[in-house]
Amino acid sequence: MNIRELIQESKLPQAEAETLLAFLMAKPREFVIVRQTEKLSLSIIKQFKEAARKRLANWPLAYLIGHKEFYSLDFKVNKNVLVPRPETEMLVEVILKYAKRQKTGLDFLDIGTGSGAIIVTLAHELKKETSALFDASSFLGLDISKPALAVARQNAKVNNLKEKIAFLESNLLQNIPTKSLKNSHLVIAANLPYLTPKQTKEEPSISREPELALTGGPDGLKYYRQLFKQLKKINPSSLFLICEINPEQAGPIKLEAQKIWLSARLKIIKDLSGRKRFLTVERINIHQ
Ligand SMILES: C[S@@+](CC[C@H](N)C(=O)[O-])C[C@H]1O[C@@H](n2cnc3c(N)ncnc32)[C@H](O)[C@@H]1O
Repeated sequence: MNIRELIQESKLPQAEAETLLAFLMAKPREFVIVRQTEKLSLSIIKQFKEAARKRLANWPLAYLIGHKEFYSLDFKVNKNVLVPRPETEMLVEVILKYAKRQKTGLDFLDIGTGSGAIIVTLAHELKKETSALFDASSFLGLDISKPALAVARQNAKVNNLKEKIAFLESNLLQNIPTKSLKNSHLVIAANLPYLTPKQTKEEPSISREPELALTGGPDGLKYYRQLFKQLKKINPSSLFLICEINPEQAGPIKLEAQKIWLSARLKIIKDLSGRKRFLTVERINIHQ
């Protein structure tokens, strides 16, 4: 059997089949595209058929090839972490824009770091673009999942940021001593689980991703509510928080934030497809 025949037989979209086969053959995708009549070994055929079966059973392509591109960086992923989504790249952009306007070092927290995509990208971009801010800032990724943190640590290492980014197992902010954050200029990225149980159940394409990364209680806002309460107790020198949400949560999450921060600037930001995707909270502590 040759490359063309195997790909045609697989019923996978052409690009996915090519990527998968190239990965199994340890060749670039161009090789698979150009060498369509190349005969394949039985071992490769067997491996490809098994991988194609999984893909058709909703395993993300990224899990099958072990990595995913995010913000032009390559992230290792496995079944313990959410596959980083393109819409989350905008969350990084919004933070970078805010960070570059600040005059002091910042304390970046990525809550629910998963693969580490957000915190690693932030550190990588700041190191490249504004090294003074990078040097003066700290970076911390938090997750309740130990296996997810192992993946995040690897991604920090691969990107030469092992020394700069710390990772901590924690239920939201629970394991960070509140005192240590009191005088800080906090910048928080939170892409916490925000789906409802119904949404998680009804979407086959996410059925292989960790439940722990998807569902956020009956209305999807359980973790954000908890986080807001924890943050209220900290009262840092300044706070910039961005939360990723689904469009229908824009109103409800804004109300939750208003209950906590009476004088903060709250903003809903739309993603590139015009859907309400992020809440930002910006607050300077005038009592400091
Ligand atoms: C939607 S995923 C986001 C992963 C990654 N930040 C990204 O954007 O690709 C949510 C992450 O939050 C973590 N998580 C769930 N509950 C948590 C909690 N109570 N405290 C900290 N992390 C939590 C999950 O393990 C998962 O890695």
